[in-house]
Amino acid sequence: MREALKLSQVHFSFPTPTGPLSVLAGVSFAVREGEWVSIVGPSGCGKTTLLRISAGLLFPQHGTVEVFGRPPRGQVAYMPQGETLLPWRTALGNILAAREADGRVDYQTRQEALALLAQFGLEKFAKAFPHELSGGMRQRVALLRTFFANRRVLLLDEPLGALDALTRAEVQDWLVDVWQSVRKTVVLVTHDVEEALVISDRVLTLTPRPARLAAAFPVELPRPRERAHSQVQALRAAILHALAEARQ
Ligand SMILES: Nc1ncnc2c1ncn2[C@@H]1O[C@H](COP(=O)(O)OP(=O)(O)OP(=O)(O)O)[C@@H](O)[C@H]1O
Ligand SMILES: [Mg+2]
Repeated sequence: MREALKLSQVHFSFPTPTGPLSVLAGVSFAVREGEWVSIVGPSGCGKTTLLRISAGLLFPQHGTVEVFGRPPRGQVAYMPQGETLLPWRTALGNILAAREADGRVDYQTRQEALALLAQFGLEKFAKAFPHELSGGMRQRVALLRTFFANRRVLLLDEPLGALDALTRAEVQDWLVDVWQSVRKTVVLVTHDVEEALVISDRVLTLTPRPARLAAAFPVELPRPRERAHSQVQALRAAILHALAEARQ
């Protein structure tokens, strides 16, 4: 299969008053077209920086980033960490915003967005504003908006980070349904190893800052996946061990 996203020896540091702060120290990996890769790493290790570089919003001092062999700008949909919905627009309006970057939104696009909301259980909320929605619903809308963008590669930065455990598990299962129906290449950053295992084809672990790739874990299990499944739990233990080892 084709490589959708490819990072080669990416080095990045932020300038600070006390000198450069090294955040990424030679990160290389490739994501195949249609693959879901999750990245887990300790707090502050450089995950967001890695996604912003993959989105073409920051430029590495050394190394290269390619999306289908070209610079990433205009080819990826990036969902930043935190609340990302426009508070003055309805759920439908927020979803349509994903297409406005490419020009005017026509009747057909609007129908497509309504169909997407209906397919994934949000039709009742099409006219609701973000403040009228629960946290879980807001993140579902924000995720659908990202899937609705005319982009083949999605970069998701801890999209479920603010949700309680129960809601989070529900939205994870829902997200697997969305992805299996609207198949795109996805890179997900998360703190939650179980989340990565329930969703992804492959899990990459990072070292503490400056981040390097520590290990890679293919997850060759059919979906939907049971969290309590012995293989999920064995992989979880192996990933937590790799994260702990990388801290040494
Ligand atoms: N604009 C900036 N200028 C200077 N330092 C920065 C800047 N943005 C981030 N940093 C630093 O770079 C490091 C990596 O930040 P980044 O946000 O990529 O980490 P992260 O892994 O996403 O963290 P978290 O788990 O908290 O989301 C941190 O030490 C952070 O303080
Ligand atoms: Mg971050």
